[in-house]
Amino acid sequence: MAVNLIILAAGQGTRMNSERPKVLHEIAAAPLVVHAMKSGAALGPDRTVVVAGVGAEAVENAVLDHDPDTITVRQMEQLGTAHAVLQARDALADATGPAIVLYGDTPFITSETLEKMVGALKTHAVVVLGFEPADPSRYGRLVMDGPILTRIVEYKDADDTTRAIGLCNSGVVAAETALLMDLVAQVGTNNASGEYYLTDIVEIAAARGLTSTVVICPEEETLGINTRAQLIAAESLFQSRARKTAIDDGVTLIAPDTVHFAHDTVIGRDAIIEQNVVFGPGVTIESGARIRAFSHIEGAHVSRGAIVGPFARLRPGAELAEDVHIGNFVEVKNAIVDEGAKINHLTYIGDADIGAKTNIGAGTITCNYDGVFKHRTKIGKSVFVGSNTMLVAPVSLGDNSMTASGSVITRDVPAGDLGIGRSRQENKAGFAVKLFDMLRARKAAKAKGR
Ligand code: UD1
Ligand code: MG
Repeated sequence: MAVNLIILAAGQGTRMNSERPKVLHEIAAAPLVVHAMKSGAALGPDRTVVVAGVGAEAVENAVLDHDPDTITVRQMEQLGTAHAVLQARDALADATGPAIVLYGDTPFITSETLEKMVGALKTHAVVVLGFEPADPSRYGRLVMDGPILTRIVEYKDADDTTRAIGLCNSGVVAAETALLMDLVAQVGTNNASGEYYLTDIVEIAAARGLTSTVVICPEEETLGINTRAQLIAAESLFQSRARKTAIDDGVTLIAPDTVHFAHDTVIGRDAIIEQNVVFGPGVTIESGARIRAFSHIEGAHVSRGAIVGPFARLRPGAELAEDVHIGNFVEVKNAIVDEGAKINHLTYIGDADIGAKTNIGAGTITCNYDGVFKHRTKIGKSVFVGSNTMLVAPVSLGDNSMTASGSVITRDVPAGDLGIGRSRQENKAGFAVKLFDMLRARKAAKAKGR
């Protein structure tokens, strides 16, 4: 069934004490608003509308970056949650199916919970996601009559009896798209905050003879981020879940607490992740690969049997084929490294193609940047690149070629050839001994003079 998502992300987030809009603060290397989008994305939404306001341009860029099909609308003034939802009306004018309202600062709602809500729409016009927090404090209270939700009362507007209710409003709401828009358009501002409360739609629906109900989820799911301390707590919650999932999926984590995942890290069964490994976004590690300690990996694909690190850095566009070895203090960026190639020590490989079974000697650098343009280095199969070779791109080394250690290679080396690009060595007979004698005599003379 088609659903539509409306993600509210216009608020200021004052308590973050930040120039950055709250929803752009990150968990697991993705903005909070992207986590909200991902919760809903599992339902395969027809349209996703993000309502931006404070820092709108930055928020819009971030959501479009994650999914270019997102529709963005602006709420110029933050007049309340109902007013925010109303901003999506034109974008959803002819949309069919249910709409689900999510908050951009609530990253952990699961798709199962959202599916339950959509399911409950079969029997009720409005479905609200409720939870029973350990500390209900300032949340809106859900007033029930059996299975029917009769109204939602904001804390500020609640009397003591209502405040004693433990069932609270998460903010997530579902209703048929057209009906939802109809209902929010009727919301007024007659309340303690003078705001347009989305929560009022329950009573407006009831007045039309339409029923509402509640789906309940664990408090963890509705965790909203308002402060930096909560952001840190949410990051840590995300990480412990990601570690657990990886372990359950058959990944070996030697010291799980020291491994940091991104929101989209994919690791195959029987891969081994050693201590203190950090994954940035866009990483796939295939089964049986080994990531050794203290490696930093983002935007990279590591195939079966490959070994990376310790102390390696893989940057976006690093594509390692099967059985590749990347060793310590090696950086690889935007490069394809074919099967069985070895780059084991102190090397920078950027904008390059490395053929199968090629060996890159210690200290090799692809000089890919001329200060204005980036250029590519192409290295064939079974090439032996001597230690400390500078490969000044654009340049290519043919299959089975070699470079002499310490070479600065500025011209292509044809297949099977040896490229040497360094000054020729000269030996001066007996000169070292003469030089030592002279220097020692000078030192002795100086000591006497003191
Ligand atoms: C809201 C609910 C409350 C619920 C709580 C859960 C209402 C009236 N109240 O209260 O019942 O218990 O969430 O956390 O809905 N936003 C906009 N534009 C606005 C106002 C808000 O985009 O004009 C966005 C905010 O950025 C935020 C979300 O909507 O992501 C919720 O707004 P917030 O002000 O935090 O609502 P609460 O007062 O916490
Ligand atoms: Mg709030």
